[in-house]
Amino acid sequence: MNMWTKADWRKKPRVQMPDYKNIKILKDVENQLEKYPPLVFAGEARKLKQQLGKVANGQGFLLQGGDCAESFAEFSADNIRDTFRVMLQMAVVLTYGAKCPVVRVGRMAGQFAKPRSADTEIIDGVELPSYRGDIINDITFTDEARKPNPKRMLQAYAQAASSLNLLRAFSTGGYADIHQVHSWTLGFSDGAGAEKYSAVANRISDALDFITAAGLTTENSHALGSVDFYTSHEALLLEYEEALCRIDSTTGLPVAGSGHLLWIGDRTRQPDGAHVEFCKGVQNPIGLKCGPSIKTDELLKLIQTLNPENEPGRLTLIARFGAGSVGDHLPALIKAVQSEGSKVVWSCDPMHGNTIKSSSGYKTRPFDSVLREVREFFAIHNAEGSHPGGVHFEMTGQDVTECTGGLRAISDENLSDRYHTACDPRLNASQALELAFLVAEEISQRDGMTGKFRNLV
Ligand code: PEP
Ligand code: CO
Repeated sequence: MNMWTKADWRKKPRVQMPDYKNIKILKDVENQLEKYPPLVFAGEARKLKQQLGKVANGQGFLLQGGDCAESFAEFSADNIRDTFRVMLQMAVVLTYGAKCPVVRVGRMAGQFAKPRSADTEIIDGVELPSYRGDIINDITFTDEARKPNPKRMLQAYAQAASSLNLLRAFSTGGYADIHQVHSWTLGFSDGAGAEKYSAVANRISDALDFITAAGLTTENSHALGSVDFYTSHEALLLEYEEALCRIDSTTGLPVAGSGHLLWIGDRTRQPDGAHVEFCKGVQNPIGLKCGPSIKTDELLKLIQTLNPENEPGRLTLIARFGAGSVGDHLPALIKAVQSEGSKVVWSCDPMHGNTIKSSSGYKTRPFDSVLREVREFFAIHNAEGSHPGGVHFEMTGQDVTECTGGLRAISDENLSDRYHTACDPRLNASQALELAFLVAEEISQRDGMTGKFRNLV
């Protein structure tokens, strides 16, 4: 039998990975990471796969979100807490709209490696290697800082471990109590201009009052006082992924220990390339970014490679075509998936197809384009009789000014006020929560779909 091994990717063509010059240091780091404990456990990845399996069957909704790139400099308890908090708020609003369980997955505790459109960057006539995420090199524009340094993997591991520790504590230690989460949302929906969201927020309050009156409280119901929260990142730096891959003692099968869900980026999804080779062998749920260049036959080949057993929850297809372009690509892909009978989760990333350069020179994303892409995604799934299973956002709990628009209208001129991202522009807390309200409205207004949810739940 042709047995997969975690090092097989090394024989395949690789793209977007650093060319480390000091092989001895690289080997030392890999050996060290191999001895460290995994960050996540096989049973957790299995549980996430089961929950995503329900989403694939139309009985749930996926909310995936977090930084474009986590950074060493922005690492703090406050940042982790605030992103976690806004994701919980969004999940409550989406649960209400979708009338089904929402699976929460952070782009957190491991999202450190970035694919780039150009290998080098030129500033004032000086050309240096591009920044590829803190796990690889440093964003400072000097020759030394931009050299890939394998030791950065150890710092990324430590930061991911400590982020996960905090996330686990927040998930079960009282912070995630649904009443508290909803009270934060009431603050948002009572704010200036947010009246249009207060009706939904008040209906959620009524629902919570009702279940409390009926005897379901945080004390007697685990589901009201704590949450399942999972981590995810792009599996880009394969030396790191290989070193953290472990054999699950329950099944005897390999599992990536670096995060619960790993995804393959739009630039690294070559069917015979290194990234697909690594991801196909681990048992975790896998995401696959699908951008405008993906062809139907290529997608079917990737589905066959990554999910040969057609296991629901194993594969999440993350569509990212750009507002106005979803209709050119998605219908044919959905039809192909349907005709093969493939069980996948369809999620919408309305961020990466909507990045523009603002007049003030900043990379930004207009809130309206983000919303428009989500709406197109929903409408097409509805027309095709397919389940729009989730959304994928680049967002932060901080009050940054990186994407334009939203309730507290951020203009091109405002972008310089608090533009902190290490890579792509993120929705701020208010924009992210507003989108959750609008997505919830979108879901609940689609009679066919609401009916479908109701029948299945
Ligand atoms: C990302 O999710 O940060 C990313 C780089 O996306 P994509 O691979 O879809 O371009
Ligand atoms: Co990004």
